[in-house]
Amino acid sequence: MSLIASKVSMNFAAILALKDIDLALHKGEILGLIGPNGAGKTTLVNVISGFQRPSTGSVRANNVDLSSLSPRARSYHGVVRTFQGARIFSSMTVLQNVMVGALGQGSNLTHAEEAARRALIRVGLNGTETMPATQLTYGQERALDLARALAARPNYLLLDEPAAGMNESETTVLKRVVQDIVRDLEIGVLLIEHDMSLVMSVCDRVQVLVKGETLTVGTPFDVRRNSDVMSAYLGTVAGPSE
Ligand SMILES: Nc1ncnc2c1ncn2[C@@H]1O[C@H](COP(=O)(O)OP(=O)(O)OP(=O)(O)O)[C@@H](O)[C@H]1O
Ligand SMILES: [Mg+2]
Repeated sequence: MSLIASKVSMNFAAILALKDIDLALHKGEILGLIGPNGAGKTTLVNVISGFQRPSTGSVRANNVDLSSLSPRARSYHGVVRTFQGARIFSSMTVLQNVMVGALGQGSNLTHAEEAARRALIRVGLNGTETMPATQLTYGQERALDLARALAARPNYLLLDEPAAGMNESETTVLKRVVQDIVRDLEIGVLLIEHDMSLVMSVCDRVQVLVKGETLTVGTPFDVRRNSDVMSAYLGTVAGPSE
């Protein structure tokens, strides 16, 4: 059971943002997707989740070809993503914000509320249900974003920099939540993240993109030891480190 992107290329006018990318995300694993700014990470998630059509290439989930489907249709096949930068609906309560994820999947109000309450417990936001979402801290907004995605019952969850802007204790909570959902729900998580200590400690495998190409895919141990990653990543000799 896997989510597979095959031979994905993406041109924006003269910019080749993705070149012939293959990616496989299996159920029950956390796959890190790392690379310098502009490497193509978000573009790849946009292509996989259906928000952008690739110039060439295909996307399949459990052997179903999703390539021509809308984002919502892909979510019915279990492909759910979050966006870089928290997105909240400011006129809604926390609970209503999270219910949106389940309602988008076609749940009725009762089931959507149940799913939303469960998701809020998972991310540690229980007790905030009736609060206006605007009263959450930034870290809580990010957690709400994750809860909304969970309420959509993903098989494959694509997280675009979920820890960005979080402090250390919020990041620690996020790490535990991601590990718990992968274990308890047996879903696959694609984790785009610049926080290397988070990536290296939580991921089963890591795929490294540089300038739209896959530099390597391997265990955190292998990726950290790879001298090409060290020299290419961020263009510094330091490379990804904890
Ligand atoms: N809609 C667009 N139109 C034109 N160029 C784009 C568009 N979206 C992305 N790009 C370009 O494609 C490349 C990849 O961008 P992308 O946002 O996927 O990188 P990223 O790895 O997510 O970077 P970051 O770590 O900063 O989030 C960049 O050169 C970017 O400028
Ligand atoms: Mg990005």
